[in-house]
Amino acid sequence: MSPVQSLPLIILVLSSLLTCSVLGATALHHDASTDFQALRCLKLHLSVSNRLLTSWKIDDSLQQFCNWSGVTCSKRHTSRVVALDLESLQLDGQIPPCIANFTLLTRIHLPNNQLRGPIPAEIGQLNRLRYLNLSSNNISGMIPSNLATCSQLQVIDLGSNFINGEIPPNLSQCSDMQQLNLDDNELAGGIPEGLGTLRNLSVLQLAGNTLTGNIPLSLGTSSSLHSVKLTDNSLTGPIPSLLANCSSLQFLVLTKNQLGGEIPPALFNSTSLQILSLGLNNFIGSIPAIFPNVADSPLKRIVLASNNLTGTIPSSLGNFSNLSWLLLSQNNFQGSIPVSIGKIPYNIGYTLPSIQTLIMGVNKFHGQIPTSLANTTILRAIDLGSNSFHGIVPSLGTLPNLIYLDLGENRLEAGDWSFLTSLTNCTQLVELSLNANILQGDLPSSIAGLSKSLEVLLLRENRISGTIPWEIHHLRNIKTLYLGKKLLSGRIPESLGNLRNLFVLSLSQNKLYGRIPLSIGNLSILSELYLQENNLSGPIPGALGDCKKLVMLNLSCNSFDYSIPKELFTLSSLAEGLDLSHNKLSGEIPLQIGGLVNLGPLNISNNQLSGQIPSTLGQCVHLESLHMERNNFHGRIPQSFMNLRGAIVMDLSQNNLSGEIPDFFESFSSMKLLNLSLNNFQGPVPPGGMFQNKSEVFLQGNKKLCANTPLLELPLCNEMISKKKMYTSKILKIVAITVISLVMLSCFGVIIFKKRKIKQATHPSVKELKKFTYVDLVKATNDFSLANLVGSGKYGSVYKGRIESEEHHTVAIKVFKLDQLGATTSFVAECEALRNTRHRNLVRVITVCSTSDPIGNEFKALVLEFMVNGDLESWIYPTLTNEHHPKRPLCMGSRG
Ligand SMILES: *[C@@H]1O[C@H](CO)[C@@H](O)[C@H](O)[C@H]1NC(C)=O
Ligand SMILES: *[C@@H]1O[C@H](CO)[C@@H](O)[C@H](O)[C@H]1NC(C)=O
Ligand SMILES: *[C@@H]1O[C@H](CO)[C@@H](O)[C@H](O)[C@H]1NC(C)=O
Ligand SMILES: *[C@@H]1O[C@H](CO)[C@@H](O)[C@H](O)[C@H]1NC(C)=O
Ligand SMILES: *[C@@H]1O[C@H](CO)[C@@H](O)[C@H](O)[C@H]1NC(C)=O
Ligand SMILES: *[C@@H]1O[C@H](CO)[C@@H](O)[C@H](O)[C@H]1NC(C)=O
Ligand SMILES: *[C@@H]1O[C@H](CO)[C@@H](O)[C@H](O)[C@H]1NC(C)=O
Ligand SMILES: *[C@@H]1O[C@H](CO)[C@@H](O)[C@H](O)[C@H]1NC(C)=O
Ligand SMILES: *[C@@H]1O[C@H](CO)[C@@H](O)[C@H](O)[C@H]1NC(C)=O
Repeated sequence: MSPVQSLPLIILVLSSLLTCSVLGATALHHDASTDFQALRCLKLHLSVSNRLLTSWKIDDSLQQFCNWSGVTCSKRHTSRVVALDLESLQLDGQIPPCIANFTLLTRIHLPNNQLRGPIPAEIGQLNRLRYLNLSSNNISGMIPSNLATCSQLQVIDLGSNFINGEIPPNLSQCSDMQQLNLDDNELAGGIPEGLGTLRNLSVLQLAGNTLTGNIPLSLGTSSSLHSVKLTDNSLTGPIPSLLANCSSLQFLVLTKNQLGGEIPPALFNSTSLQILSLGLNNFIGSIPAIFPNVADSPLKRIVLASNNLTGTIPSSLGNFSNLSWLLLSQNNFQGSIPVSIGKIPYNIGYTLPSIQTLIMGVNKFHGQIPTSLANTTILRAIDLGSNSFHGIVPSLGTLPNLIYLDLGENRLEAGDWSFLTSLTNCTQLVELSLNANILQGDLPSSIAGLSKSLEVLLLRENRISGTIPWEIHHLRNIKTLYLGKKLLSGRIPESLGNLRNLFVLSLSQNKLYGRIPLSIGNLSILSELYLQENNLSGPIPGALGDCKKLVMLNLSCNSFDYSIPKELFTLSSLAEGLDLSHNKLSGEIPLQIGGLVNLGPLNISNNQLSGQIPSTLGQCVHLESLHMERNNFHGRIPQSFMNLRGAIVMDLSQNNLSGEIPDFFESFSSMKLLNLSLNNFQGPVPPGGMFQNKSEVFLQGNKKLCANTPLLELPLCNEMISKKKMYTSKILKIVAITVISLVMLSCFGVIIFKKRKIKQATHPSVKELKKFTYVDLVKATNDFSLANLVGSGKYGSVYKGRIESEEHHTVAIKVFKLDQLGATTSFVAECEALRNTRHRNLVRVITVCSTSDPIGNEFKALVLEFMVNGDLESWIYPTLTNEHHPKRPLCMGSRG
């Protein structure tokens, strides 16, 4: 276009601009420029970190803002903004108070941005505002209570923000309100009663807050309510039965609250309700048996799962011809499933022709599973697990849409396994659980014909015998496979290695034998492998090192031999556990064990492993429990174990370990059990930390250990040391004798004699008496419990106790109160007096115990023979748990 050609156009534009500015000066008064200023203000505040509102030319002095994107102007009042539609524009910043300057604004639609900060109270000045949608932002603060001054408000949507405080009660003054959505905020307090009085309110959504209190009764008086969603709050109390009268109510969703009481029966009778979702509450009572003719009941979903409902399922439930979801799981329902459920609908009104999802697990249903279930051809999900159904698993091959079938934890039988053959028809089946039933007989190879979509197959804890069918590799998509427990035998088929999607494989607790097939290494995404408690043998294949995603590996309680392949220790993914215990593994631990840097529990106990404990084990800093007991390890505890301070349990017992017990264990504050017993440890036990707690440390069977307190039942170090000292001084003496003189020798002799004498004086009768420690007496008296108190006097208390090593077990223990003046002398006196005295209940002094308690206080007690008589017989003997040998069930309770 040449300049000459374009001239007329320029004139045209100029003239139109002129017209505009003339209009602006006359027809458009001050308010247009106010809106313009307000838009400038909005742009300034809402796009702090981006320039999205680029079409908003705020330097446009001609105020052509009505065609700015997202801005709508009034038709009647030109250049006056009536609506702002700015959805999903990544607006950030706070909504500025200047928004209140759009005096004709009726609509604010700013959802799905990153607006933050509070809603300005000034918004209440917009008295023409009808629609406010600020959902999915990051708005915080409270809802301004003067929002209610926007008397024309019809829609408020503030969902998915961080709004806190209470719902302002005077929102119920917005008499035109139709929709109130405050879902997913942090609102607390009650639901304002007044909301139910809003004549036009049809949608009330307050889910996902922390609202408390009752559902307002007034809601039940509303004829406009269409949808009430109060899920996931902390509401209590009953459902107002009037709600059943809300003639427009289609959706009542009250899941996940603490509502209780009975469900108003009339709700099941509603002519409008389509969804009744009451799961995860505390409702009691049963489903009402009598419905009117609800052949055309609109109910589509009934969710009553996870309540405390009881009773049987009334057969009239079959009347809900539109019902497609029925969730009754996790209640206390009982009885049998009415036969009407699952019958094909020639007679509509009597059956559930629309049922797609039938979830009734975790109840007390019993009886047989109605075979009519097989006629409800649109069923997609059936969960009848964890009930008490018996009989033969029905053949459900007629359900082509079946995706999910859980019949686990019942008492179902396999019959001739034709149900399984039939299920091969269900080509969409994704999950089949028949765990923990009494399916018996050999696993048929038809299992391989199950849906190619099958991802989860659970057949554990049945009475399934036979071998694992070789054809199993046809289940190409299987992710989780649990087979057997008890009876499966034979070898693990090599073909298992073709199940490349396998994520969890459990064949534990069977009678499988032979080697682990090398193909196992092909299972590259395998995360958990449980093969424990079988008769598997041979070496553990190094190929397992190719299962790079393994998190848990349990091969315990088999007969694997040879050494542990070092490849296993390259699996840094192993975190949840590695259990190789109770096998016949031998050789040394490969140094590579330090590669298990994420491992929590490691168990290699009860094998024939030997050599030293590699110091690299100290690199496994996440170890929580380390079991190495019952092997042939020798040498010292590596210094690197210092890094294992997260350990809770460490058992190195029954090896040939030696050296001193490292004192870094003192600082292991998480440790609850350290078992070093039956080794050759020597020297003093560290005094601090857990070594002060006898129930956490086991050291017996280490002959050369000594302790600084009598607590650990070890010889005291100072005795050992003083003996040593005496020994050294003797040598010195001998030197002295030979070097100096005979006179000096006699002097020493006197001193030593005197020392002995003093010792004997404080322990008048210890000579042939047995030795008990303080802890023995604590145990014998059940920690000096009141139940064992026979009597008490000024100087002490007498307890009845039980000491296993004593001939008659039961003893009387007199504990002296040493803080009582005279108690010590009393102790000495009693020792003397009692030695030959007969008493009603007390006979012979078994021993005296003079030591210190764990806090270091002096402790003196007499242990006396106890005369059993009728009265005392009835006393409860303290039950002694043998803490020295905490019984770990052999290969029991292992996961998988
Ligand atoms: C708005 O209108 C003016 C003139 O009327 C025009 O120049 C401008 O391009 C328009 N802007 C948009 C975003 O349509
Ligand atoms: C609203 O407009 C008036 C007049 O233009 C102005 O004085 C005032 O500052 C504006 N208010 C806000 C909050 O921007
Ligand atoms: C608010 O906006 C979002 C996003 O467009 C929309 O999904 C939602 O339905 C709106 N709320 C109301 C009550 O219309
Ligand atoms: C949104 O707000 C919350 C709390 O006010 C804050 O923790 C969070 O970081 C914010 N998120 C974004 C994306 O700004
Ligand atoms: C709503 O209540 C608050 C305080 O409860 C009050 O400040 C506000 O003015 C009230 N608004 C209306 C419209 O009544
Ligand atoms: C259901 O409604 C009918 C009337 O349509 C009534 O007779 C019956 O009592 C109601 N049942 C319940 C449980 O409310
Ligand atoms: C369930 O109801 C029974 C009585 O029917 C009651 O004893 C029990 O405490 C209730 N359980 C819960 C979790 O409310
Ligand atoms: C259910 O199906 C079986 C066979 O699939 C058929 O014999 C029976 O008549 C059907 N029952 C109903 C009620 O349709
Ligand atoms: C498989 O489905 C077909 C048609 O849906 C049916 O005729 C056949 O009986 C089914 N087979 C089994 C084993 O259920």
